Amino acid sequence: MINVEWGKLPFAYFKTDYNVRCYFRNGAWGKLEISSSENISIHMAATALHYGQEAFEGLKVFRGQDGKIRIFRWEENAKRLQNSARGILMAEVPTDLFKEMVWNVVKLNEKYVPPYGSGASLYVRPLLIGTGPQVGVKPASEYLFLVFAGPVGPYFKEGFKPVKVQIARDFDRAAPLGTGIFKVGGNYAASLRAGERAHGDGYAAALFLDAKEKKYIDEAGPANFFGIKNNTYVTPKSGSILPSITNMSLQDIARDLGMQVEVRPIAVDELGSFEETGACGTAAVITPICAIEDRDYATVFSYCKDGQAGPVSTALYKRLQGIQFGDEEDKFGWVDVIE
Ligand SMILES: Cc1ncc(COP(=O)(O)O)c(C=O)c1O
Repeated sequence: MINVEWGKLPFAYFKTDYNVRCYFRNGAWGKLEISSSENISIHMAATALHYGQEAFEGLKVFRGQDGKIRIFRWEENAKRLQNSARGILMAEVPTDLFKEMVWNVVKLNEKYVPPYGSGASLYVRPLLIGTGPQVGVKPASEYLFLVFAGPVGPYFKEGFKPVKVQIARDFDRAAPLGTGIFKVGGNYAASLRAGERAHGDGYAAALFLDAKEKKYIDEAGPANFFGIKNNTYVTPKSGSILPSITNMSLQDIARDLGMQVEVRPIAVDELGSFEETGACGTAAVITPICAIEDRDYATVFSYCKDGQAGPVSTALYKRLQGIQFGDEEDKFGWVDVIE
């Protein structure tokens, strides 16, 4: 056993023993390579460095009470990475290769999968980058697919405690016909200024609005947004947000709990009518939102008046985590055991 204070882990890089790599050269993927180096050596003119040919994924692995290691909806991450690759003209990683790489990295680093009950999990980070040189703006002809993993705690240090977020009107994360639907580094670069300002002002994240009309909610920092009212789960429909696998799962759970689900534009004006709001994602799981500040209008929308998460967010959170840790029946077929 390794000596880690599992219950106190932040959501941060954690050095483990191995990562796995595979190169795309001459039009084909090569053999899987196991590495214990944290460094990569790439051409100084690699397109990842100059023209942003970079996409990544994030998925989690959980240890159950039975000691088994469970991975959540990895095929959706494989599909989304393929979509991101198509979106910025990179070589696509076949689903079988994605699975082989993820399974290998988890098994090689098995001792870093946090114990059941610690609240922590193993975060797996697949990364696809253009490594071939180009000086003109063109896609590379060579790519590296790399997967590393490390144990993490909650993304928002509060865990399942409500956080405050801040509406950003003076920064856009993604344009309507841009790359917001892909998980590519450029979107995160574009979100940094608003995010860091929000942190500096005491908020957990920036809440981005649609770039065209500045009227509708897009994303809650690195997570999707949802609101609850009248037994209905409402989440934004937008062409510039990342299709969150957690959000998709919560919609199924909400329906299963007898709720209605609406995927449609959510205007800022509607925020006052929600009973509960939250951010959701692999890292955030469900992070309840207790206050949304609209800094330009000096207004604040408040939720969870007693400082606690609302009952619906709590039920959704428990059900999702119950499935992920293997405590509840996996009736949707979302979990695979890694043996
Ligand atoms: C911008 C953004 N939105 C939403 C999400 C949530 O997606 P998922 O639930 O697939 O992790 C993420 C990643 O976690 C993200 O980076």
